[in-house]
Amino acid sequence: MKIAPSVLACDLSDIRSGLKEMAYSGCDMVHWDVMDGHFVPNLTFGPGTVRWARNHSELPFDVHLMVTDPMQYLPLLTDVGVEMVSFQIEATSFAPRLISLMRELDFKPSVAINPQTSLVAVEEILDLVDNVLVMSVDPGFGGQEFMSSTFAKLEKLVEYRESQNLVFSIQVDGGVNLNNANELAATGVDIVVTGSSFFRAEDRPAFVRKIRGMDR
Ligand code: DX5
Ligand code: ZN
Repeated sequence: MKIAPSVLACDLSDIRSGLKEMAYSGCDMVHWDVMDGHFVPNLTFGPGTVRWARNHSELPFDVHLMVTDPMQYLPLLTDVGVEMVSFQIEATSFAPRLISLMRELDFKPSVAINPQTSLVAVEEILDLVDNVLVMSVDPGFGGQEFMSSTFAKLEKLVEYRESQNLVFSIQVDGGVNLNNANELAATGVDIVVTGSSFFRAEDRPAFVRKIRGMDR
């Protein structure tokens, strides 16, 4: 599996060191949790921070928009050097339009889905996206416990992907650690976001090697 640590879990007064740590440890991408204080009851950083940080990392940037108006943020992220952007399906009624705009702006479109939301909500757009981000905690905060109900949703999603011959990657976000990563890999997950578990690991390169070695 690929590993994308969340910046949210590093020392936010020293993001540069967090980014260095990710590169040194062999991570695949950097996960940015952009929150607006409306869609979720928390505020983090915005496109400006991501833009400045681009000078301090060579890793692909993966932006997770937990905002009520994702359309408004996309123009602010152009020319920043962001590879993939996730929007929350709960935040829009116009997902196909949003996805087209993402493609025009050269972002890999990804749809994120909250624990309470059924897969039915994204079914009609699964052929349009490059990635599906399955939330395994309620969004808004790092360090929460992984919800085991996520596995049933992942199994359905993997099954659907296979049956429809679709090619999107599957990413899981929230409470991922070495205790559940093996099962996630076995289920068919391609990318895991690891905030707290990565930054709390004593030997981060070894942590990354373990997760990267796990595959279906
Ligand atoms: C939650 C965020 C996650 C979270 C991951 O709103 O989307 O990316 O920060 O952090 P951990 O791994 O600590 O749950
Ligand atoms: Zn996230």
